[in-house]
Amino acid sequence: MASSPFIIVAIDGGAASGKSSSSRTLSERFHLLHVDTGSFYRAVTAELLRRAIPAGDLEAVRRALAEITFGTRVQGRSAQMEIGGRVAGEEIRSREVNGHVSHFAAIPEVRTALLAYQRGQADVARAQQFRGLVMEGRDIGSVIFPDADFRFFLHADPEERARRRANEGQQDSIAERDRLDSSRKTAPLACPAGAVSIDSTHLDLPAVVDVMGKLIAAKLAP
Ligand code: DC
Repeated sequence: MASSPFIIVAIDGGAASGKSSSSRTLSERFHLLHVDTGSFYRAVTAELLRRAIPAGDLEAVRRALAEITFGTRVQGRSAQMEIGGRVAGEEIRSREVNGHVSHFAAIPEVRTALLAYQRGQADVARAQQFRGLVMEGRDIGSVIFPDADFRFFLHADPEERARRRANEGQQDSIAERDRLDSSRKTAPLACPAGAVSIDSTHLDLPAVVDVMGKLIAAKLAP
């Protein structure tokens, strides 16, 4: 294991496209640190909402970002963002955060504040002896790790994605978030050139992971 290469797997896609389930499964199969960057944007959103800062108040957003200190706690195979030494809880999946996160994520200063932090997760993975990392988000294969060893882009019909979220007991404005995430100027959600695009509408999780896992295993094989 010590001599095997450190690998970076990027998985991008819209809300409820299957990123989290497939990332988690790959992290177990290949001993990779699982990094859910959506949870980072959600944690920052929850913190800004806690400070009663609206997404329209750029000055206040800038001031808050300059004050906030970010850290990482590894729990199991998963990287959790710490803000001021505290890992955010279930509030990051609340309806309020669902409704605001795309607005904060569209602010270039917010994205810049998280850029080095996200890239730094590779150092966290190395320090904790992982074989690599699997990072999920919207701009991982395009902006954060454009040279990742594997870049996947997941998509699925909006009706199917809404059904998945409802099954998880979540109220989420998927179509509206996708519209905002795809149309923003900085790092919009889009399948980057050269990424492997997978339509998961009619595929179950094992089938999606099978496609990804075979490609990864083929490269890791001696
Ligand atoms: O993956 P998610 O639905 O938990 O992500 C929440 C929001 O965070 C999503 O609507 C857009 C934003 N996001 C982003 O802009 N870039 C990323 N790399 C990950 C998430």
